[in-house]
Amino acid sequence: MMPAKEWARVFTLGRARGKIAELFEADAKRAERFSREACGILYDFSKTALSEESFAALLDLAEAAEVEAARDAMMRGEKINTTEGRAVLHTALRAGPEAVIEVDGQDVMPEVRGTLARMAAFAREVRKGPITDVVNIGIGGSDLGPAMTALALQPYADGPRVHFVSNIDGAHIHDVLKKLNAATTLVLVASKTFTTIETMTNAATARRWMAETVADPAAQFAAISSAEEKAAEFGIPAERVFGFEDWVGGRYSVWGPIGLSLMLAIGPEDFAAFLAGAAEMDLHFASAPLAENLPVIHALVGLWHHQVCGYATRAVLPYDQRLARLPAYLQQLDMESNGKRVSKAGEALAFGSGAIVWGEPGTNGQHAFYQLLHQGTEIVPADFLVAMQGHEEGLAHHHALLVANCFAQSQALMLGRDHEAPQRVFEGNRPSVTMAYEKLTPRMLGRIIALYEHRVFVEGAILGINSFDQFGVELGKELATALQPVLGGAEADLDSSTAQLVAFYRGYQN
Ligand code: F6P
Repeated sequence: MMPAKEWARVFTLGRARGKIAELFEADAKRAERFSREACGILYDFSKTALSEESFAALLDLAEAAEVEAARDAMMRGEKINTTEGRAVLHTALRAGPEAVIEVDGQDVMPEVRGTLARMAAFAREVRKGPITDVVNIGIGGSDLGPAMTALALQPYADGPRVHFVSNIDGAHIHDVLKKLNAATTLVLVASKTFTTIETMTNAATARRWMAETVADPAAQFAAISSAEEKAAEFGIPAERVFGFEDWVGGRYSVWGPIGLSLMLAIGPEDFAAFLAGAAEMDLHFASAPLAENLPVIHALVGLWHHQVCGYATRAVLPYDQRLARLPAYLQQLDMESNGKRVSKAGEALAFGSGAIVWGEPGTNGQHAFYQLLHQGTEIVPADFLVAMQGHEEGLAHHHALLVANCFAQSQALMLGRDHEAPQRVFEGNRPSVTMAYEKLTPRMLGRIIALYEHRVFVEGAILGINSFDQFGVELGKELATALQPVLGGAEADLDSSTAQLVAFYRGYQN
């Protein structure tokens, strides 16, 4: 049930919010009061317009929306994905060795541990050689997780090089394969459903490429899928098929077999540390009181900025070149989960769905779109992420400059600057949160991703959304399937714009 009274109070306080800089002037302890430290992350949300009162009202909202009960139901394996009748248990993929988690009265953990052990054995074998390159073919959740994490954890990569092919655009697979030697390449076909047109088309192209030079191409393929029989039909033997259950959503799947390319790159031990980091955040999320709970606070800050203050977008600004794919990863996680116009019950949402997520690493973004962040008429709340230590020995001076830039940006956004020339005025009062941590290790990356996953969950729970289906991707797929023969000449009754585009395309075919 929608906690209308609590929402109304939050909106009232939102309208009366003060200036961020003034909140600092009024309270010498503001930074301390509006920061939390957990799982090695200093989460500073003091550079927002939240007051003690509005923060308390948001916590009341979370309580009234029964976020804790919803969280417990998810982690217990209840079928909270109601439209698809599925449990939501990505947390099981990283649960410790003692965990017992039941779906339909059956403990799923033996299977989870068994698959993880098979992945590790496979990874150890492959990492011995002669395989030098691994190509992960997948898209969406079957691409973004491993692609983002493999880049993020480059300093830990001591196995084969990993490459990612996702786009149906032939340019993608062409450009990746042309650098590789088929004889020493392993192809992973990663698709939960094993029907996704991009992935199946790319997989078929990779198999043809492999068959040109390799006598037994199937021996250099492995599959990652919930549809194991479809993988078998593709010709991949059962011992090289890594399955997972339908209670792992695509955008939550990097923790299991979909993470195999990451495991091949960094090794099973570092992959285990990645899982352990996420499990630490799960434990924190499951046990910390709401007012101390990082994912809950991050969600409340998100709702405050988007639903209450009306800021349409949110920027993810990692000061870490290796987190270059994090914004894209979070776009899927957040926008595919909460970009929905109706509630679980099918009713129109009262306060709007999830925000638009975008971003780029700093400092690069500073030389591109930060102009608008500082002086545009749109206010864009930002998440800054930054490690206190880099990995590059001998380049600590680079890192100090990176950190100084990160801290300076949140300061500039908040404080602004007066000037006699209006073009040079910075209004300030632009909110941000900063997440600071020691170093981007596998463990820390696991914690950060789990923090965002649970943030999306809490926002969805408070808005009353089912964050775990994605019917919004279907219509475009259906229309593309229907248009393909039309491009080839078939008749169709089309709107005049689409008909014109089709005619233009046909005009360029021989
Ligand atoms: O089209 C969206 C989507 O279904 C995502 O949710 C998913 O991560 C992606 O496509 C890939 O799906 P699959 O792993 O089944 O190929």
